[in-house]
Amino acid sequence: MNARTKEMQVSVWRGTAAGGRYETFAVPEQENQTILDVVTWIQQYADPSLTYRFACRVGMCGSCAMMVNGTPRWTCRTHVKKVVRNGAVRIGPLRNLPVIKDLAADMDPFFDKWTAAEGRHHPGISRADPVQQIAPDNPGRVVANAGIECINCGVCYAACDTVAGNPDYLGPAALQRAWTVLNDVKDTGGQTVLDAVSGTGGCHNCHSIGSCTTCCPNELDPLAAIAGLKRETTRAYLRGRRDA
Ligand code: SF4
Ligand code: SF4
Ligand code: FES
Repeated sequence: MNARTKEMQVSVWRGTAAGGRYETFAVPEQENQTILDVVTWIQQYADPSLTYRFACRVGMCGSCAMMVNGTPRWTCRTHVKKVVRNGAVRIGPLRNLPVIKDLAADMDPFFDKWTAAEGRHHPGISRADPVQQIAPDNPGRVVANAGIECINCGVCYAACDTVAGNPDYLGPAALQRAWTVLNDVKDTGGQTVLDAVSGTGGCHNCHSIGSCTTCCPNELDPLAAIAGLKRETTRAYLRGRRDA
Protein backbone atom coordinates (compact mmCIF):
# COMPACT_ATOMS: atom_id res chain seq x y z
CA MET A 1 0.00 0.00 0.00
CA ASN A 2 1.24 3.49 -0.85
CA ALA A 3 2.57 5.14 2.32
CA ARG A 4 0.39 8.19 1.59
CA THR A 5 -2.83 6.21 1.21
CA LYS A 6 -5.24 7.24 3.93
CA GLU A 7 -7.10 4.53 5.80
CA MET A 8 -10.42 4.45 7.59
CA GLN A 9 -11.33 2.24 10.52
CA VAL A 10 -14.23 0.00 9.55
CA SER A 11 -16.04 -1.99 12.26
CA VAL A 12 -17.88 -4.96 10.81
CA TRP A 13 -20.22 -7.33 12.59
CA ARG A 14 -18.86 -10.88 12.69
CA GLY A 15 -20.95 -13.73 13.97
CA THR A 16 -24.04 -15.86 13.63
CA ALA A 17 -27.43 -16.11 15.32
CA ALA A 18 -25.58 -17.53 18.32
CA GLY A 19 -23.72 -14.26 18.87
CA GLY A 20 -20.77 -12.24 17.67
CA ARG A 21 -18.85 -8.99 17.92
CA TYR A 22 -17.61 -6.09 15.85
CA GLU A 23 -14.21 -6.52 14.25
CA THR A 24 -12.23 -3.53 12.98
CA PHE A 25 -10.32 -3.38 9.70
CA ALA A 26 -8.11 -0.62 8.28
CA VAL A 27 -9.41 0.00 4.76
CA PRO A 28 -7.74 2.28 2.18
CA GLU A 29 -9.79 5.34 1.31
CA GLN A 30 -10.59 6.01 -2.34
CA GLU A 31 -11.85 9.13 -4.04
CA ASN A 32 -15.12 7.42 -5.02
CA GLN A 33 -16.07 4.53 -2.78
CA THR A 34 -19.31 3.01 -1.60
CA ILE A 35 -19.91 1.07 1.60
CA LEU A 36 -20.33 -2.04 -0.56
CA ASP A 37 -16.88 -1.34 -2.04
CA VAL A 38 -15.51 -1.24 1.51
CA VAL A 39 -17.12 -4.54 2.46
CA THR A 40 -15.86 -6.11 -0.77
CA TRP A 41 -12.33 -4.83 -0.11
CA ILE A 42 -12.35 -6.44 3.34
CA GLN A 43 -13.52 -9.76 1.91
CA GLN A 44 -11.00 -9.70 -0.95
CA TYR A 45 -7.92 -8.37 0.86
CA ALA A 46 -8.36 -8.87 4.62
CA ASP A 47 -10.68 -11.77 5.42
CA PRO A 48 -12.21 -13.97 2.69
CA SER A 49 -14.56 -15.56 5.23
CA LEU A 50 -16.58 -12.33 5.57
CA THR A 51 -20.16 -13.10 4.52
CA TYR A 52 -22.45 -10.54 2.89
CA ARG A 53 -25.01 -10.30 0.13
CA PHE A 54 -25.23 -8.21 -3.03
CA ALA A 55 -26.13 -8.62 -6.68
CA CYS A 56 -26.75 -5.63 -8.96
CA ARG A 57 -24.50 -2.96 -7.39
CA VAL A 58 -26.74 -0.25 -8.86
CA GLY A 59 -29.72 0.03 -6.52
CA MET A 60 -32.07 -2.33 -8.30
CA CYS A 61 -32.05 -5.66 -6.44
CA GLY A 62 -32.16 -4.52 -2.81
CA SER A 63 -29.96 -7.38 -1.61
CA CYS A 64 -27.07 -5.26 -0.26
CA ALA A 65 -29.03 -3.55 2.54
CA MET A 66 -27.14 -3.30 5.84
CA MET A 67 -26.95 -1.07 8.91
CA VAL A 68 -24.41 1.73 8.38
CA ASN A 69 -23.65 3.71 11.53
CA GLY A 70 -27.01 2.50 12.87
CA THR A 71 -29.10 3.46 9.83
CA PRO A 72 -30.40 0.93 7.28
CA ARG A 73 -29.12 1.67 3.77
CA TRP A 74 -28.45 0.18 0.37
CA THR A 75 -24.68 -0.15 0.70
CA CYS A 76 -24.11 -0.01 -3.07
CA ARG A 77 -25.70 3.45 -3.20
CA THR A 78 -24.15 4.81 -0.01
CA HIS A 79 -20.96 6.77 -0.59
CA VAL A 80 -18.42 6.52 2.20
CA LYS A 81 -17.90 10.28 2.25
CA LYS A 82 -21.52 10.78 3.28
CA VAL A 83 -21.39 8.49 6.30
CA VAL A 84 -17.80 8.31 7.54
CA ARG A 85 -17.37 10.00 10.92
CA ASN A 86 -13.90 10.88 12.27
CA GLY A 87 -12.35 8.38 9.87
CA ALA A 88 -14.54 5.50 11.04
CA VAL A 89 -17.69 3.67 9.99
CA ARG A 90 -19.65 0.79 11.52
CA ILE A 91 -21.42 -1.80 9.36
CA GLY A 92 -23.85 -4.45 10.62
CA PRO A 93 -26.57 -6.78 9.35
CA LEU A 94 -30.10 -5.41 8.89
CA ARG A 95 -31.87 -4.81 12.18
CA ASN A 96 -35.03 -6.71 13.17
CA LEU A 97 -33.99 -9.89 11.34
CA PRO A 98 -32.05 -12.97 12.44
CA VAL A 99 -28.41 -13.10 11.38
CA ILE A 100 -27.30 -15.94 9.15
CA LYS A 101 -23.64 -14.96 9.29
CA ASP A 102 -21.78 -11.65 9.54
CA LEU A 103 -23.60 -9.10 7.34
CA ALA A 104 -26.13 -11.51 5.82
CA ALA A 105 -29.54 -11.26 7.49
CA ASP A 106 -32.15 -13.98 7.19
CA MET A 107 -34.97 -12.45 5.08
CA ASP A 108 -37.44 -15.30 5.69
CA PRO A 109 -39.44 -13.53 8.45
CA PHE A 110 -39.68 -10.44 6.22
CA PHE A 111 -41.18 -12.41 3.33
CA ASP A 112 -43.34 -14.55 5.61
CA LYS A 113 -45.06 -11.32 6.62
CA TRP A 114 -45.79 -10.43 3.00
CA THR A 115 -47.65 -13.74 2.84
CA ALA A 116 -49.41 -13.09 6.16
CA ALA A 117 -50.51 -9.65 4.92
CA GLU A 118 -52.04 -11.22 1.78
CA GLY A 119 -49.61 -9.20 -0.31
CA ARG A 120 -50.28 -11.29 -3.41
CA HIS A 121 -52.62 -11.07 -6.36
CA HIS A 122 -56.11 -12.52 -5.89
CA PRO A 123 -57.28 -13.08 -9.47
CA GLY A 124 -60.90 -12.66 -10.46
CA ILE A 125 -60.58 -13.99 -13.99
CA SER A 126 -58.83 -16.90 -15.65
CA ARG A 127 -56.35 -16.93 -18.52
CA ALA A 128 -59.27 -17.82 -20.80
CA ASP A 129 -60.92 -14.43 -20.16
CA PRO A 130 -60.07 -11.28 -22.11
CA VAL A 131 -57.34 -9.09 -20.61
CA GLN A 132 -58.82 -6.28 -18.53
CA GLN A 133 -58.00 -2.82 -19.82
CA ILE A 134 -57.26 -0.41 -16.95
CA ALA A 135 -56.76 3.25 -17.77
CA PRO A 136 -53.51 4.69 -16.33
CA ASP A 137 -55.51 7.45 -14.62
CA ASN A 138 -57.92 5.03 -12.94
CA PRO A 139 -57.89 6.21 -9.28
CA GLY A 140 -57.18 2.73 -7.89
CA ARG A 141 -54.40 2.23 -10.42
CA VAL A 142 -52.83 5.55 -9.44
CA VAL A 143 -52.78 4.58 -5.74
CA ALA A 144 -51.45 1.10 -6.51
CA ASN A 145 -48.69 2.57 -8.68
CA ALA A 146 -47.42 4.62 -5.74
CA GLY A 147 -46.02 1.52 -4.02
CA ILE A 148 -45.32 -0.73 -6.96
CA GLU A 149 -41.60 0.08 -7.14
CA CYS A 150 -40.83 -1.61 -3.82
CA ILE A 151 -37.88 -3.97 -4.35
CA ASN A 152 -38.21 -5.83 -1.03
CA CYS A 153 -34.90 -4.58 0.33
CA GLY A 154 -35.98 -4.62 3.99
CA VAL A 155 -34.60 -1.15 4.76
CA CYS A 156 -37.93 0.16 6.04
CA TYR A 157 -38.42 -3.03 8.07
CA ALA A 158 -35.04 -2.52 9.74
CA ALA A 159 -35.91 1.14 10.44
CA CYS A 160 -39.18 0.31 12.19
CA ASP A 161 -39.14 0.57 15.99
CA THR A 162 -42.54 -1.12 16.18
CA VAL A 163 -41.13 -4.25 14.53
CA ALA A 164 -38.24 -4.07 17.02
CA GLY A 165 -40.67 -4.05 19.94
CA ASN A 166 -43.28 -6.41 18.49
CA PRO A 167 -41.92 -9.21 16.30
CA ASP A 168 -45.48 -10.07 15.23
CA TYR A 169 -46.00 -6.69 13.59
CA LEU A 170 -46.28 -7.16 9.82
CA GLY A 171 -44.09 -4.13 9.16
CA PRO A 172 -44.08 -1.34 6.59
CA ALA A 173 -43.16 -3.23 3.43
CA ALA A 174 -45.73 -6.01 3.79
CA LEU A 175 -48.44 -3.50 4.72
CA GLN A 176 -47.54 -1.26 1.80
CA ARG A 177 -47.89 -4.26 -0.53
CA ALA A 178 -51.26 -5.09 1.04
CA TRP A 179 -52.36 -1.50 0.32
CA THR A 180 -51.16 -1.84 -3.28
CA VAL A 181 -53.12 -5.07 -3.72
CA LEU A 182 -56.20 -3.57 -2.05
CA ASN A 183 -56.24 -0.71 -4.57
CA ASP A 184 -55.45 -2.81 -7.62
CA VAL A 185 -58.71 -2.84 -9.57
CA LYS A 186 -57.80 -6.24 -11.04
CA ASP A 187 -57.60 -7.77 -7.56
CA THR A 188 -60.65 -9.39 -5.95
CA GLY A 189 -59.22 -10.08 -2.50
CA GLY A 190 -60.30 -6.84 -0.81
CA GLN A 191 -61.92 -8.24 2.30
CA THR A 192 -59.27 -10.95 2.60
CA VAL A 193 -56.59 -8.27 2.64
CA LEU A 194 -58.46 -6.13 5.17
CA ASP A 195 -58.88 -9.13 7.46
CA ALA A 196 -55.18 -9.98 7.16
CA VAL A 197 -54.00 -6.49 8.09
CA SER A 198 -56.40 -5.90 10.98
CA GLY A 199 -55.20 -8.69 13.26
CA THR A 200 -52.90 -8.50 16.28
CA GLY A 201 -49.83 -7.79 14.15
CA GLY A 202 -51.69 -5.52 11.76
CA CYS A 203 -51.66 -1.93 10.61
CA HIS A 204 -53.12 -0.43 13.81
CA ASN A 205 -49.84 -1.18 15.62
CA CYS A 206 -48.09 1.48 13.54
CA HIS A 207 -47.10 4.54 15.58
CA SER A 208 -47.01 6.77 12.47
CA ILE A 209 -43.63 8.31 13.20
CA GLY A 210 -42.51 7.50 9.68
CA SER A 211 -38.97 6.10 9.92
CA CYS A 212 -39.96 3.71 7.13
CA THR A 213 -40.76 6.52 4.73
CA THR A 214 -37.72 8.53 5.79
CA CYS A 215 -35.35 5.63 5.13
CA CYS A 216 -36.84 4.10 1.94
CA PRO A 217 -34.12 4.54 -0.71
CA ASN A 218 -36.78 4.32 -3.44
CA GLU A 219 -38.62 7.31 -1.95
CA LEU A 220 -41.75 5.26 -1.37
CA ASP A 221 -44.19 6.11 1.39
CA PRO A 222 -45.19 3.08 3.50
CA LEU A 223 -46.47 5.44 6.19
CA ALA A 224 -49.12 6.79 3.82
CA ALA A 225 -50.03 3.27 2.70
CA ILE A 226 -50.50 2.19 6.32
CA ALA A 227 -52.64 5.25 6.98
CA GLY A 228 -54.82 4.12 4.07
CA LEU A 229 -55.12 0.64 5.55
CA LYS A 230 -56.05 2.07 8.96
CA ARG A 231 -58.77 4.12 7.31
CA GLU A 232 -60.16 1.27 5.20
CA THR A 233 -60.08 -1.33 8.00
CA THR A 234 -61.91 1.11 10.26
CA ARG A 235 -64.49 1.81 7.57
CA ALA A 236 -65.00 -1.91 7.05
CA TYR A 237 -65.41 -2.38 10.78
CA LEU A 238 -67.94 0.42 11.04
CA ARG A 239 -69.86 -1.04 8.13
CA GLY A 240 -70.23 -4.15 10.21
CA ARG A 241 -68.21 -6.27 7.85
CA ARG A 242 -65.91 -7.40 10.63
CA ASP A 243 -66.74 -8.99 13.95
CA ALA A 244 -66.22 -6.73 16.92
S1 SF4 B 1 -40.74 0.19 0.85
FE1 SF4 B 1 -38.72 0.97 0.26
S2 SF4 B 1 -37.39 0.44 1.99
FE2 SF4 B 1 -39.22 -0.80 2.20
S3 SF4 B 1 -38.72 -2.76 1.23
FE3 SF4 B 1 -39.72 -1.46 -0.32
S4 SF4 B 1 -38.05 -0.41 -1.40
FE4 SF4 B 1 -37.20 -1.24 0.50
S1 SF4 C 1 -44.52 4.68 10.57
FE1 SF4 C 1 -45.28 2.69 11.29
S2 SF4 C 1 -44.42 1.15 9.87
FE2 SF4 C 1 -43.28 3.10 9.55
S3 SF4 C 1 -41.47 2.88 10.88
FE3 SF4 C 1 -43.05 3.91 12.11
S4 SF4 C 1 -44.18 2.28 13.21
FE4 SF4 C 1 -42.96 1.31 11.56
S1 FES D 1 -26.50 -4.62 -4.82
FE1 FES D 1 -28.50 -4.43 -5.69
S2 FES D 1 -29.37 -2.74 -4.59
FE2 FES D 1 -27.33 -2.83 -3.88
